[in-house]
Amino acid sequence: MAKITYIEFDGTEHTADVKPGLSVMEGAIRNNIPGIDADCGGACACATCHVYVDGAWRAATGERSAMEDSMLDFAENVADNSRLSCQIRVTDALDGLVVRMPESQH
Ligand code: FES
Repeated sequence: MAKITYIEFDGTEHTADVKPGLSVMEGAIRNNIPGIDADCGGACACATCHVYVDGAWRAATGERSAMEDSMLDFAENVADNSRLSCQIRVTDALDGLVVRMPESQH
């Protein structure tokens, strides 16, 4: 299991144990963590699973794919550390990951 901390825009923190193999988005949905809508169910086709990856975790979570990059064009307030959480696969190496949610996914 990887412990992932999801921080809402207002600072509310939620920590969940997420099974390796799931995406960071699925970890939030399965644990009823608010702030990630995931309208497309993880197909990299909606950009409503936008998160900001904590600086310390950017290398471990890897780079955006070209498709993810183009979907992020539809998100608001995109930053250098923006990712689509359905595109980050959880592994044991992500134990301790911290992501922050934007103010809104729409
Ligand atoms: S859930 Fe739709 S792009 Fe991630």
